[in-house]
Amino acid sequence: MSELMNGRVGRREFIGAAAAAGAVILKPELAFGTAANSAVRLGLLGCGGRGRNVMSSFLENTDAVLTAVGDLFADQLELGRKTFDEVSAKRGKPAIEASRMFRGPKAYEQLFACKEVDAVYIATPPYFHPAHLEAALAAGKHVYLEKPVAVDVPGAKKVMALGAKANPRLSLAVGFQIRHASPYVELAKRIHGGQIGQAVSGEIHYFASAIERPEWPNATAAERRLRNWVHDKALSGDISVEQNVHIIDVTNWLLGAHPVKAVGAGGRAGRTDRGDCWSHYNLVFSYPGDVSISFASTQFGKAAWGVAMQYYGTKGCAEAHYDAPVRISGEESWEYPGLKKPESTDTAQAVTGTFKGALDDADPNKQKAFIESIASGKPVNEAASGAEAALSGMLGRMAAYTGQEVTWEKLLQSEEVWDPKMDWNQFA
Ligand SMILES: NC(=O)c1ccc[n+]([C@@H]2O[C@H](COP(=O)([O-])OP(=O)(O)OC[C@H]3O[C@@H](n4cnc5c(N)ncnc54)[C@H](O)[C@@H]3O)[C@@H](O)[C@H]2O)c1
Repeated sequence: MSELMNGRVGRREFIGAAAAAGAVILKPELAFGTAANSAVRLGLLGCGGRGRNVMSSFLENTDAVLTAVGDLFADQLELGRKTFDEVSAKRGKPAIEASRMFRGPKAYEQLFACKEVDAVYIATPPYFHPAHLEAALAAGKHVYLEKPVAVDVPGAKKVMALGAKANPRLSLAVGFQIRHASPYVELAKRIHGGQIGQAVSGEIHYFASAIERPEWPNATAAERRLRNWVHDKALSGDISVEQNVHIIDVTNWLLGAHPVKAVGAGGRAGRTDRGDCWSHYNLVFSYPGDVSISFASTQFGKAAWGVAMQYYGTKGCAEAHYDAPVRISGEESWEYPGLKKPESTDTAQAVTGTFKGALDDADPNKQKAFIESIASGKPVNEAASGAEAALSGMLGRMAAYTGQEVTWEKLLQSEEVWDPKMDWNQFA
């Protein structure tokens, strides 16, 4: 198999590129703690807060190199280049060549066509995810797709179908890093091993304050809307799908199923941004076996962040916070050692997915696992669980929007396409 086919580049080529870029070459075993002979070449689409955060983690925590970047906007592209060249230089990795920086609405096609890229990390707004995933797989790239995989049911079904027919040699990861956080991995093992007995009920919540975005006073209304996509339903999927999907995914994982129905309420009161997303949701999800999970979320105002889950079973209760503790109380009690609650949550960090405490190693572990899946030739395919998580968020959303109980079957009948009705060529 050629180096390109198996998704890796020879160290000689990497060192050559690094030298050409004037980067410091360190002995690999000194630089990365391992004598790897090759490095996966990454491309990034979407140089925003999350894209910069995760790509920096790839560069710091794995031996992967970044060879190409793409973004709709020149300022974001430049911000990405600056960030990554600094991180890469510290690690003795090459800078990004100017010819592999792609801007505009076709940047994704140019980036995915790049033969110096083995794997792409897609960190664009959720609306674009199904189309960007389709194009990346068609170009033969391994893909790490940010959550949520889609904003509507047809989009989530498309991602599932793409995953099902994807080349089995390609890795397809979805951005649920909490499944890689050590305290949560240990908790899942214990719950799946029966330590809380039969799950009966639970309570999960995601309380966030408003996500402040710049005003972009000189931008057109369309550009401002896209830049501030997180306030916009059609671009983000609304908060139950965009932000709260993390704790819904954790619940699906820990309970080993997706919800079968939901009821709920919510609204937009309290939000002050220009968009149309809701400020809060209050839902009850039913899981197989009559397990009821109550769910509450907010995204408005200035209240302190708090994210946590509790699952009550016949032998005990499992409790998991983003910060601390992660533990089980009951017949056999257990607590993940060494976790401390930080004094406060840094909101700017939180919106990029960085939380202090139980999630400390979530991202490094997730990024290491993705690279390892490529380097070892043991690909992952997370399309189905990623799509189920997004659909579960949509189930709660539909229940709250309609004020009626919605079953999984009814949800899957939805053919409603969430279309922001924007002409992307205006950003060419
Ligand atoms: N896993 C996590 O913990 C986590 C945390 C935060 C965000 N996210 C997800 O990451 C994704 C990005 O979020 P973010 O906070 O970085 O947003 P952001 O607005 O900071 O960044 C998005 C970037 O994509 C660019 N972009 C927009 N449309 C594009 C297009 N069509 N083609 C190319 N580039 C385009 C924007 O210019 C911007 O640079 C979202 O799906 C979000 O839900 C995940």
